Amino acid sequence: MSQNELRAPTSGKVFIKTYGCQMNAYDSERMLDGLTAKSFTPTEHAGDADLIVLNTCHIREKAAEKVYSELGRLRRLKEAHARGGKSMQIVVAGCVAQAEGAEILARAPVVDAVVGPQSYHDLPGLLRRAAQGPVVATDFAVVEKFAALRNAAISPAAPRRVTAFLTVQEGCDKFCSFCVVPYTRGAEVSRAASEILAEARRLAANGVREVTLLGQNVNGWRGVGLNRREWGLGRLLFALAEVPGLRRLRYTTSHPRDMDDALIAAHRDLDVLMPYLHLPVQSGSNRILKAMNRRHDRDAYLRLIDRIRAARPDMAFSGDFIVGFPGESEADFQDTLRIVDEVSYASAFSFKYSPRPGTPAADRDAQIAEATKADRLRRLQAVINAAQIRFNAGMVGRTLEVLLEKPGRRPGQLAGRSPYLQAVHVDAPPTRIGDLVEVEIVASGPHSLTGRLTAETRPMAEEFDS
Ligand code: SAH
Ligand code: SF4
Ligand code: F3S
Repeated sequence: MSQNELRAPTSGKVFIKTYGCQMNAYDSERMLDGLTAKSFTPTEHAGDADLIVLNTCHIREKAAEKVYSELGRLRRLKEAHARGGKSMQIVVAGCVAQAEGAEILARAPVVDAVVGPQSYHDLPGLLRRAAQGPVVATDFAVVEKFAALRNAAISPAAPRRVTAFLTVQEGCDKFCSFCVVPYTRGAEVSRAASEILAEARRLAANGVREVTLLGQNVNGWRGVGLNRREWGLGRLLFALAEVPGLRRLRYTTSHPRDMDDALIAAHRDLDVLMPYLHLPVQSGSNRILKAMNRRHDRDAYLRLIDRIRAARPDMAFSGDFIVGFPGESEADFQDTLRIVDEVSYASAFSFKYSPRPGTPAADRDAQIAEATKADRLRRLQAVINAAQIRFNAGMVGRTLEVLLEKPGRRPGQLAGRSPYLQAVHVDAPPTRIGDLVEVEIVASGPHSLTGRLTAETRPMAEEFDS
């Protein structure tokens, strides 16, 4: 390649590093689609890349700081390249880009472009501009972005996959007092049902069997339906259930306030809708829930769980918890420990409260000491872990339907997921990837299950072996 071609901002090799949530993973794939359509090719190694994109997360201080240490490493790489006469462009995308904008350029002059989560649909155009000097693009152009995504093809470079994410809603109007998302992702916007269905059909035609609908408040989705009337997520799921080839549907993340009757009915009536729901509660204490501006109390949450289980008795739940929110007493924390057992979560994530600039809780008095946060996190994680172990152990001896997704840890093994999102390892040939199979569970651990194909699903495997 000539020097000129290497310098050309519209071609070369691209390396994308993704931090944060599933929506960032989805956005990274869309950025890659847009770039490969403009003659970029993906690489797994930052050292080979002409363009490096860091798709960042701002949710906790640690997540944001990781970006700056990575930029320090990239500065040395860029300088080394420059000595060899090779240029390299560095883009900071995602939620840190949105939150900090031009400040990133001041703190890390190695960066060529800063692009927020609603502005990446014209990345090739931004790169052309960035060749003339640093660019910051942080408009909330989410409607335009969705319009651009509508026409985007799946990248031929994308690996063939059994499962995929599909963003249906973006942004958040809830303003929990600890959270940056309403500021980094903006107001709630829902994509139209027709666009979502078209993307789901494209994915299914490419071999995808399971789609997870994404939204910061996915169950707050209110979009234009196929009949031009407004639909809610329950109605959308009924339409998606008809897409040929799709065998499983999931959605995440839900807010307890937006779980309406139609959505609960979808769980009752749709076999393709998996009996697993990530429904964060954050705290078990009414006082703290109020201070967090969650707009529901402990009882409302527990009643909701009961209603969902009445519609779908085998429903499994996961949650998110924050410990050490300002003002959290030992008694408040005990309420959180108790709710974990009351719900019997299948799994849960827990975090130490991290004060985020610009959020109301960050300025409150009664911030909790780091050592107390660490102690509470450890105690909460012990309770969560025990709940997970119990839930997984309850599967031993049962037969579960497993979607085989990829090669497993050991040769001859494949890894898949149960309806309840548990990782399941099973001996099966690679030709079975993409199949839904019946698996008898023989062992369980805190994070995964092991099983064997049942007699009905085994014959094809034996055929392969011989
Ligand atoms: N949209 C999702 C949340 C996205 S953030 C929802 O409403 O549930 C994922 C999780 O990070 C949150 O559920 C919360 O538990 C945690 N989190 C958010 N802000 C945080 C903060 N300032 N400190 C610690 N954890 C936080
Ligand atoms: Fe953040 Fe709350 Fe919105 Fe979830 S609902 S994204 S925690 S503000
Ligand atoms: Fe992080 Fe932004 Fe997702 S802050 S969690 S990447 S919405």
